[in-house]
Amino acid sequence: MAAGLTGLLRWYAEMGVDIAVDDAPHDRFAESRASIGVRADMRGLAAAPPETIEISRRVMREPGTALPPEAIAASAWDQAAAAQSLGDLRERLSRFEGCGLKATATRLVFGDGNPSADVMFVGEAPGADEDREGVPFVGRAGQLLDKMLASIGLDRGKVYIANVVPWRPPGNRTPTPLETAACLPFTRRQIELVDPKILVCLGAASAQTLLGGKEGVMRMRGRWFAYPAGNTEIRALAMLHPAFLLRQPAHKKLAWQDLRMLAKEMNTYRPTPVGSCP
Ligand code: URA
Repeated sequence: MAAGLTGLLRWYAEMGVDIAVDDAPHDRFAESRASIGVRADMRGLAAAPPETIEISRRVMREPGTALPPEAIAASAWDQAAAAQSLGDLRERLSRFEGCGLKATATRLVFGDGNPSADVMFVGEAPGADEDREGVPFVGRAGQLLDKMLASIGLDRGKVYIANVVPWRPPGNRTPTPLETAACLPFTRRQIELVDPKILVCLGAASAQTLLGGKEGVMRMRGRWFAYPAGNTEIRALAMLHPAFLLRQPAHKKLAWQDLRMLAKEMNTYRPTPVGSCP
C-alpha cells in the first residue's frame, strides 16, 4: 500500500504535479468541454483586424480544429500593441488564450519591481513558488538573484523583473519555442512600456528569444548586444540564470564578471538632463 502511494506520488512529480491546489479533485476535462463555446469567443481578439477575427471564427466553428498559429500571432500582436500601460498589458495578457501553459498554471506571473527602472531583467518562466505567489523570482533562484542585485547596490525597488513566458511550464520544463513565440508580443511590449536603459537576459531562453541567434548562453554571456526598441536600441547583456548558478556554483565567478560589467555600464550611463536638447 505504502509503496503504491509512493509510486503514485513519484509519478505525479515526474508529470509535473508537484503542488496540491485544492482539497477536492476537479474533472478539468469536463470543465473545459463545458466552457469550449465560451472560450472560443474570448480568445483575446477584441483589437484584432476584422479579417483575423473572421478567420478565427471560421476555424473555431469546425469541431476539433485549433486556432491557426497565424491567427493567434495576429491577435497577440494586436492585443500587445493596443496596451497603453503595464496594467492594461497585464489585463490583456490575462485574457489571452494563445499559450497552452495558461491551462496548467495556477497564476499569471507578470512582473515585479520598479516599472520606471533603468535596468530590466528578463528570466525564463515562473517556477512552483512563483506560480503560487504570482510574483517572478521569489523561489531559491530568486533569492540568489536578490543577492546578485545587492552585490552591485541594486534591489527590487531599483530594477524591474519579468520572464519571457508568464505562466509556469508543468514540472518546470523549458518553455517550447512555440510557447515563447506566442507570448513574445507581450514580452516585447512590456519592455517597451518599462523603457529601460539596460536589458539583462537571464539564461538561454531569454537571451535567445530577445537577442536572437542560436548560440548557447555560455557564449552569449559577458557581451553587449543591441536590443531594437522602436527608433532606438537598448543596451542588452546576457547573463547566466541564477537557477543554473545554484546547480553549478563554480560558474558564479562568471556571473560576478557580468555583474561588474552591468555596474560599470550603469555608472557610465548619464541620462540627458531635461531641457538640455537644443
Ligand atoms: N526562474 C525564472 O526564469 N523566472 C522566475 O520567475 C523564477 C525562476
